Amino acid sequence: MFEKLKEGREIAQFQNKWINIMSNLGKFNKMKQTYSLNNVVKTQYGYKADILIVDGLRFKELEDIKDTIEDNYGCMCVLNKNKRSNVVYADFIFAEPNKDKYSVITGLKPWEVYLGNGYNGEPIIIDMIKYPHILITGGTRSGKSKMTDCIITGLICNCSIEELELYLSQVAKSDLILYEDVKQCRAFADTLEKTLTMLQHLDKKMEDRDKLIRPYRKKAMADNYQDYNKINKGNKLSTVFVIFDEMSSLFQTKGDCTDIKSLKEEIVRLIRRIAQFGASLGVFLICSLQRPTVDNLDPFIKSQSTCIISFRQNNSKSSEVATDDSTMALGLEQREFVYKTNLSNYGIVPLVDNKNIYSFIEPSLQPNHRTIFIDLKKLKNIKVSKEKIEENSKETPIFDKVDKKEPQLNTSNIPNYVPYKDTKGLKVKEEPRMPINTQKPIKGGKERI
Ligand SMILES: Nc1ncnc2c1ncn2[C@@H]1O[C@H](COP(=O)(O)OP(=O)(O)O)[C@@H](O)[C@H]1O
Ligand SMILES: [Mg+2]
Repeated sequence: MFEKLKEGREIAQFQNKWINIMSNLGKFNKMKQTYSLNNVVKTQYGYKADILIVDGLRFKELEDIKDTIEDNYGCMCVLNKNKRSNVVYADFIFAEPNKDKYSVITGLKPWEVYLGNGYNGEPIIIDMIKYPHILITGGTRSGKSKMTDCIITGLICNCSIEELELYLSQVAKSDLILYEDVKQCRAFADTLEKTLTMLQHLDKKMEDRDKLIRPYRKKAMADNYQDYNKINKGNKLSTVFVIFDEMSSLFQTKGDCTDIKSLKEEIVRLIRRIAQFGASLGVFLICSLQRPTVDNLDPFIKSQSTCIISFRQNNSKSSEVATDDSTMALGLEQREFVYKTNLSNYGIVPLVDNKNIYSFIEPSLQPNHRTIFIDLKKLKNIKVSKEKIEENSKETPIFDKVDKKEPQLNTSNIPNYVPYKDTKGLKVKEEPRMPINTQKPIKGGKERI
């Protein structure tokens, strides 16, 4: 009873302050009505309310004064409005980031990705079928890699090798190396050359999957890999994640020699193909990027990412580039993030450390398990012994092979060779495979956003 009274008084104070803020900002229509707070509820994290947009005022104006509201209340404010509604769903977050330790959420499907927790304490799980491709940005040491740890560990602990394939690329640092020996990891690429090989393999995989699904599409029986899996229960397609931790260097070619430059361009072209075609084929991108600028954030990849996550940005320009809102990602603490799907909201990555992650993934570790690079090495050995040339221990840069110098290899020559279920052999040669109907490529792949 006493608690109820206290809560009622707090809500009344909260509402009075709203009127004060609006009066001081002069946000009234000619009938002296302001944005009105309705259904105010006290929550674990602060307050939530429905804000009615009264006649003569606009949602845009409310968004413009969001930073004043935040400064006056001393909270974070989230505003969401559906296009066909005059009510704004608002959250006022007063809670400090909690100190929960990471633990695996069980029972997730291979296409369900755990990002962290909301301020209501509920886990934030993104359905990749609904919101394919995730883009994570944020200043240095803001918590991007730790979120990636949560995502990958959640997938590994919930999915079998048949259900999940991980392709990891890390050209700059080596945080992802923790997952190299995980049995669901089909490739760990720590060089540009390996990254290209990995993407060529994925391009082939997408082509094969497209061929499998197309007949069903023609008969309107299946639109994507999930529909296909429902029909082909005995021969299901896995969910594939292609994860780039820190991809900005791929877009920075200033000072690179011509070879590296064209290598990066080819890599970016193949990533864009995944962004364009991957979703319905079960191939999803998770890209992370520091300090987003118009030069290193590819507008095509951004536009195809239906889940955009931003950790703390250091200035309003970066916040604008990352979230299309100049204040949304400012002033966040380490581990705090804003995520945008059809709605936007804030969340917090639980506390993660390497030991903690290692203990979760340990049962899935299988050193020297089969990866695409091991397969390629086998292919190379066969070729070498056939031609009776001494094997050069230095790996041939795969990029040379793109110049169509490499003859096509017959995988049936490999003893005990078992192709991955949905791949009918490995080809190293690169060819255009699926029709791309985008407009003329933007010069250098960049465009002002
Ligand atoms: N969720 C978290 N749990 C524990 N420590 C964190 C977390 N997020 C960030 N940190 C701390 O911040 C540092 C940088 O985090 P990291 O995820 O590597 O940042 P980024 O990848 O954005 O540069 C970590 O080494 C750790 O000390
Ligand atoms: Mg990092």
